[in-house]
Amino acid sequence: MGGTGSTVAVAALADGLPSWRVTRSGGEPRGIFCGIGHCHDCLVLDPDGRTARACLLPTAAVIGGSDQAPGGVCQVRPADREEGDSLPCAAGAAPSGSTTRIGPRSSLALVGRDDSRVRPAPVIPASAEVCQVRSADREEGDSLPCAAGAAHSGSTTRIGPRSSLTLVGRDDSRVRPRAAAGQSAAPHPPADVLVIGAGPGGLTAAADLADGGLEIVLVDRYARAGGQIGRQPAGTAARTGGLADAIGRAETHPRIAVQPATAVVALRRLDHRAGFEALLETAGTLHLCRTRAVVLAPGAREVVMPFPGWTLPGVVTAGAVQALVKAEGRLPWTRVGLAGSGPLLLAVAAALRQAGHPPAFTLEARALRDLVGTGLPTALRHPAKGLQFAALAGPHPPRFGWRVLEAVGSDRLRAAVIAPVDPDGRVGRRRTVGLDALGISHRLVPDVGLALQLGCDTRSSADRIATAVVVDEVQATSVPLVHAVGEITGVGGDEKARAEGRLAAAALLTQLAGHRSPPAALRRAATRWRRFADDLERLHPVDDDWAATTPDAVLACRCEEVPLGEVRRAIADGATTARAVKGLTRCGMGPCQGAVCSPIVRSALAAAGHADTGDLESRPLAAPVAADQLARLA
Ligand SMILES: Cc1cc2nc3c(=O)[nH]c(=O)nc-3n(C[C@H](O)[C@H](O)[C@H](O)COP(=O)(O)OP(=O)(O)OC[C@H]3O[C@@H](n4cnc5c(N)ncnc54)[C@H](O)[C@@H]3O)c2cc1C
Ligand code: FES
Repeated sequence: MGGTGSTVAVAALADGLPSWRVTRSGGEPRGIFCGIGHCHDCLVLDPDGRTARACLLPTAAVIGGSDQAPGGVCQVRPADREEGDSLPCAAGAAPSGSTTRIGPRSSLALVGRDDSRVRPAPVIPASAEVCQVRSADREEGDSLPCAAGAAHSGSTTRIGPRSSLTLVGRDDSRVRPRAAAGQSAAPHPPADVLVIGAGPGGLTAAADLADGGLEIVLVDRYARAGGQIGRQPAGTAARTGGLADAIGRAETHPRIAVQPATAVVALRRLDHRAGFEALLETAGTLHLCRTRAVVLAPGAREVVMPFPGWTLPGVVTAGAVQALVKAEGRLPWTRVGLAGSGPLLLAVAAALRQAGHPPAFTLEARALRDLVGTGLPTALRHPAKGLQFAALAGPHPPRFGWRVLEAVGSDRLRAAVIAPVDPDGRVGRRRTVGLDALGISHRLVPDVGLALQLGCDTRSSADRIATAVVVDEVQATSVPLVHAVGEITGVGGDEKARAEGRLAAAALLTQLAGHRSPPAALRRAATRWRRFADDLERLHPVDDDWAATTPDAVLACRCEEVPLGEVRRAIADGATTARAVKGLTRCGMGPCQGAVCSPIVRSALAAAGHADTGDLESRPLAAPVAADQLARLA
């Protein structure tokens, strides 16, 4: 496994390394958990010595070369071992004998092998687009044709290990000079609209806005557009799935500057001038982008409520399982179980079956009777969605009313203890099932960090663990010229995101370009999907009972290694909000910045009867950035 475009995390897992670092105080082994860049459990050092998330770091970036090119052979091995298993890797650009350390504390190395199949990377095959090859310390280089899609406009690909050359994606009209690592990049030209997130919501909004004549910057932290549902197979430029048109439309539009592998870390409204300023991070380099308006489409995060053994390598989110199977087409594990609650479990189970890896079990915590009782009105209001969920389950429905009680193992997951648990909390007969991966998902929650930075009004979910951005009938937030679309306004899936994207674009075109106001049909469609999101939220709430039954020693905060017992003590000592718990325990102060533990802390507070729990997501920077980079901006 470890095919072209694979991430370092995938390469390590494929080499039988479920973990590549230990935690600071507990010395616990950790590997990937969320698989999509939220949790920071998978940290490694990249070849430039910067901390990187292994689940986002392409092997190509470590060994050099383009991740679009066909594979050569390299090895991932612990640094103290002479030999590791060979695996195909991107673009064969690691020359024989070269070694690139990829682990913090040097636990992993990528080794170029002397093998007849190792080929130099096909860096510059002829095709339509224009790229530049230039020295890393030069702003401009020679333009020459490059492989279609080999480097997106504005993207940079290093050529060769320790290379001083980079391949810079450009199109003819909009070359964006990029700084070498460690230098601040030149600011972007101002955009009419900055769209944050290239999932279905952001893609739709960006394309419609650009069709309407506006200049758009579309930013996404992933290397490829599509968001969670439109994740594309690694190492291909092929477009697959229902989002193909939307991706193609946005990526080829002359008025959309796509910025892949770029995260928005901060967003602020400019006081004395019209518009907004965003702080963007690309490969460790910070740069600024000015814009007249913003569309927030950052999607959702998964929630996993803690249980004994949940920090073991091999226990991951269901979304991580899905991300691996979608990107690689297969899995680095042989026996995978799925558990938690909600339709995402069905989607992941279906993806596993399709890839020839049917799950060992799929456990839905909610009892069938409960789901039918609460869900019937929803299914009647949204029959297409009901049928879609039924089709996903097909002949393999989950076991309803079952849960994972414990993940078992010392250095890594070996088994899970599962049992039926009735709505009153009575536990039935326990079974132990051997596994090497367990994908858990209890719920999705909107990713509201950037909206909170701007001061957008929000509302809490009924179970009090999530915050969603409040929008009006045309997707406008409480901050003028900031619209929000997709999961950020309430988790409702792909169709909701697209309907809201269309409406937000129409509304902004009215405001910025004098178009007529959005047609009533667009408003009705978006309203209908927002109701669906409300229904879904009621259908799969996170139950409070986990908080009562989970032992004190189980970690609530994975980064700062804060046990649940400390959270309980903080609440007993008078903390009534998530921020108060944070102040007393350090929950949410680690690199994930509350992405994982915020819902856990909020749920513990809700279980103790506190109504207004607040959140841990509002902070000046939405993701950790290097201090020297911030200093360069000053
Ligand atoms: C792990 C996971 C798996 C899912 N799988 C499915 C599935 O199989 N089927 C299904 O119907 N639904 C799935 N969903 C639900 C999914 O959220 C919706 O179906 C749909 O993709 C929502 O579209 P969206 O545009 O709102 O957000 P998304 O598709 O989530 O797109 C949001 C995009 O914003 C980007 N982003 C976020 N913050 C930043 C930032 N600060 N800077 C730059 N970029 C940023 C992300 O990288 C992402 O690409 C999944 C959700 C998750 C979290
Ligand atoms: S596993 Fe990489 S950030 Fe979560």
